[in-house]
Amino acid sequence: MRHFTEIDDLSATELARVLELASAVASPTLLTGRGVALIFEKPSARTRNSMEMAVVQLGGHPVYISDDEVGLDRRESVEDVTRVMAGFHAAIGARVFSQSVVERMAAVDLVPVVNLLSDRGHPMQALADLLTVQQEFGGLAGRSVAFVGDANNVAFSLALGAGLAQMKFRIASPGGYAFSESDLERIAMVNAPKVFKRAEEAVDGADVVYTDTWTSMGQEDEAAQRRRDFEGFRVDDKMMEAASAQAVFLHCLPAHRNEEATDAVLDGPNSRIWVQAANRMHAARGLLVWLLGEANR
Ligand code: CP
Ligand code: NVA
Repeated sequence: MRHFTEIDDLSATELARVLELASAVASPTLLTGRGVALIFEKPSARTRNSMEMAVVQLGGHPVYISDDEVGLDRRESVEDVTRVMAGFHAAIGARVFSQSVVERMAAVDLVPVVNLLSDRGHPMQALADLLTVQQEFGGLAGRSVAFVGDANNVAFSLALGAGLAQMKFRIASPGGYAFSESDLERIAMVNAPKVFKRAEEAVDGADVVYTDTWTSMGQEDEAAQRRRDFEGFRVDDKMMEAASAQAVFLHCLPAHRNEEATDAVLDGPNSRIWVQAANRMHAARGLLVWLLGEANR
């Protein structure tokens, strides 16, 4: 059984195929009469709606499940919830605090499990990011992406995805917010990233400038400290000018306007954030077609 707990569950060839499927017209009957369970321990606008609509476009029925209802490891064990849902659904998607929960669901191995964001990664986001870059530049190999800010879940999956797609990945983070040694080792298995201390160095000549919130879900108590620590890592017009002339700006959203990126950048001519958000649905459909079609026939 194939799962999607992180983007490097895919080979480079499979990643290219998923992106191809994301751009293709998909069968509106692939999931007829079948459900997809979408379990959320955290809030979501893009991930929930893009997954639900991707399932609908394939003729299936998405069921949104709040953790308040299933109570993962409180009302019932993660494994037992997975076994029950596998009796109703063709696949299970889960947004969780701990990556280990998605991995435990996948280890049950009854239906494909999709990571909808964890503390460690956000591979569905990375698929949409790569799709957006591919549409913008006509290809991925050799292009460079500079991530400015927290080496968080979004950065980790993007680094892995960029490596698989033979892109150059650079990152600049303040002290204490960089990738761990074990993260760097995992990313180096696909392509070693270049790590910088100053944002200006990372963005120099980049094709894509990417940032995310300084405070992820679950870290709200650290927000004030993080705002102080991330000063100098705000993406503004000056930083965009240091990238290449045709550089585009991406952000997974939700944005904290004028914190990690200025209004001028978010709303500026180089920003592709709305097409990037819309691509979440196309990427989700591509992944589902691959996972429930070719990968797990
Ligand atoms: N980018 C993203 O995953 O957004 P949501 O948290 O709204 O799903
Ligand atoms: N890094 C953010 C991404 C939100 C889509 C978080 O985990 O909250």
